[in-house]
Amino acid sequence: MIRLSKRAAGIAESATLAVTAKAKRMKAEGIDVVSFGAGEPDFDTPEFIKDAAKEGLDKGLTKYAPARGTLDLKKAIVEKLGRENGLDYKPSQVVISCGGKHALYGAFQVLVEAGDEVLLPSPYWVSYPEQIKLAGGKVVELRGEEKNDFKLKPEQIVGAINERTKILVLNSPSNPGGFAYTPSELKAIAEAVVDKDIIIFSDEIYEHLVYGEQKFVSFATLAEGLLKKTVTFNSLSKTYSMTGWRIGYAAGPQEIISAMGRLQSHETSNPVNFCMYAAIEALQGDQSCVVQMREEFTKRGQHMWERLNAINGVSCIRPMGAFYCFPNVEACYEKLGVAGSVAFADAVLDRIKVAVVPGVAFGWDTHVRLSFATSMEQIDEGLDRFEKLLT
Ligand SMILES: Cc1ncc(COP(=O)(O)O)c(C=O)c1O
Repeated sequence: MIRLSKRAAGIAESATLAVTAKAKRMKAEGIDVVSFGAGEPDFDTPEFIKDAAKEGLDKGLTKYAPARGTLDLKKAIVEKLGRENGLDYKPSQVVISCGGKHALYGAFQVLVEAGDEVLLPSPYWVSYPEQIKLAGGKVVELRGEEKNDFKLKPEQIVGAINERTKILVLNSPSNPGGFAYTPSELKAIAEAVVDKDIIIFSDEIYEHLVYGEQKFVSFATLAEGLLKKTVTFNSLSKTYSMTGWRIGYAAGPQEIISAMGRLQSHETSNPVNFCMYAAIEALQGDQSCVVQMREEFTKRGQHMWERLNAINGVSCIRPMGAFYCFPNVEACYEKLGVAGSVAFADAVLDRIKVAVVPGVAFGWDTHVRLSFATSMEQIDEGLDRFEKLLT
């Protein structure tokens, strides 16, 4: 009888990866599945970035590199954070990781002591609670209200802070649902927390995927003194359709970044060397690919949101960023004879071959997540099936 550590036994598999894998398996068996599970753009990585990776290989960048990333890429990230985000960091304040997920994991590991509380706005991205638990922390879920687009007011955050609070996690635009704080809403939060003895994690991975009138601002710029207590996370995954390349990063206070680097040196060592080389090209090259992707996602997001709201029993907040809709489907549970979002997702996969992610993975059993990082044809096909099932 093999006994796993309590740490491992308590960790749930990523629901988003599990759904995507199941849909892929079904497709491989020849079943006509429409997958709304994907957490990644469906576009190819831009050609000029792939060319740079090939050049990196030809240059011999196939060996170990510094564990916390190459100096050249750190400099390119510092330059990007200054130019696009108004953030002033030194290269030593940047750690490059194997994706944003890895950077977040490391940051929780180096900051959280057993029993420390981490404030987590909900709905939340699936990996945050598991990463907090793996670090020995206690998740304090701050549930948003649907009528406020799930956005928290400063009072709700401040009211949850006590002497055990270590970190506040912010993710705007968010996964799931693309909820995005306006600059003034975020500023109000910044002003409310800047004097508190906590660290803020600002996960800005969807910064370039904001739609319509929505504007993006980096949290650490919003109040004097915030830079010293904020860790900013980002990644090339979503912006440049580079999810498989595994290049993400964190920038923040020196002590935190150095500790993350030390941890990483025993964990993964460096992120892939030639991918780091190509990442410089991604950050510094022609950014029109980012604009094109955003334009396409704008159309798809609007279309999916309108169609979802026209379906009987479904109501959905308009996504202002990222590439997800997070509709409330609770009113359909009775019709389908299901009691929660996992059973709902199973039922739609079995009955109409449409893959969605159960909302319970994001803290809301009344909802499901649909990614619009798929073609318009697939969006229409999937939603036609939904409509038929639910009317
Ligand atoms: C909110 C959020 N943060 C971080 C990540 C991590 O992405 P990656 O590890 O590919 O950089 C994701 C990916 O889905 C995400 O949605």
